[in-house]
Amino acid sequence: MTLITRMRRLRYQPVIRDLVRETVLTKHDLVLPLFIKHGLTKKVPVQSMPGVYQLGLAHVEEKIESMLKAGLKAVLLFGVPAHKDPFGCDSYADDGIVQQAIRKVKAVAPEMLVISDICLCEYTEHGHCGVVNEKTGCPDVDNDETLALLQKQALSHVKAGADILAPSGMIDGAVGAIRRALDDTNLVHIPIVAYSTKYASTLYGPFREAAEGAPQFGDRRTYQMDPANAAEGVREAQLDIDEGADIIMVKPAHAYLDVIYRVKQAFPTVPLSAYHTSGEYAMLQAAIANGWLSDKVVFEIHTAIKRAGADFIFTYYAEELARGLS
Ligand code: PBG
Ligand code: ZN
Repeated sequence: MTLITRMRRLRYQPVIRDLVRETVLTKHDLVLPLFIKHGLTKKVPVQSMPGVYQLGLAHVEEKIESMLKAGLKAVLLFGVPAHKDPFGCDSYADDGIVQQAIRKVKAVAPEMLVISDICLCEYTEHGHCGVVNEKTGCPDVDNDETLALLQKQALSHVKAGADILAPSGMIDGAVGAIRRALDDTNLVHIPIVAYSTKYASTLYGPFREAAEGAPQFGDRRTYQMDPANAAEGVREAQLDIDEGADIIMVKPAHAYLDVIYRVKQAFPTVPLSAYHTSGEYAMLQAAIANGWLSDKVVFEIHTAIKRAGADFIFTYYAEELARGLS
């Protein structure tokens, strides 16, 4: 018997391949991010993300219904407010755009799991993920001032009906601060999915068009991670777990499969998510639109992200994928 025959024996029949498959992607593994913008009467296509739109509150119902039809049950909400200011006030206002969006989703479909983004960059006029402290000389995000605002935001989102909070700003101590705010107000049942291991990546470019949250000066390298570091990514996850994160995350996904693998190996008992980001989506959409890659690449890459160790994936492809999955 040759070695080749030995390995190919289980590949000849599809039914055997199905039996021995190690990684199975299902629609339960997918969360769809949505961008809800104040005052939109028409959907606005995101130029750098063909197929993705900024939605108004008026479009939420249709979108949630098409998600449910595809078998999707979880959404990640980003709000784009009417007005930005230095402190991102809309993000913790009772009638803020994301609060209205959360209430709308829950009114349409109480069973839809609402994960809400906790960050300031969509709401601040400077576009940074926290309060900028100009007194320090070099414009930078003030960690402690930011934590207090993130706590306000977190409580406001839960009050509106959010099921899970997702602090995305890589502000040190954010998970602990939000956990304390929740516990102190008897919201002990609300989980936190921490963007624990998030890199300062060019792959967020298209998102910043969609969420209108590009930094107006500088970049995010004083709070997001250096793409060159993997061991540090494990340490970031450890800190967030210690602060009370219920679920951790590696972001982006495709170029960081090694990090997903390392984090899962380091914390096998902690649920791990991965974020297939806007730039990853844009690259695949461009290749597919040109006919350079088959659209089957989408399934392959998401399967690879799960194979590397992610338990579930935030992805703009959630609906397309779900339609073809069990
Ligand atoms: C904001 C935020 C970003 C993403 C999710 N939340 C952008 C950033 O940090 O600059 C990226 C998502 C994507 O690219 O799809 N804190
Ligand atoms: Zn941010």
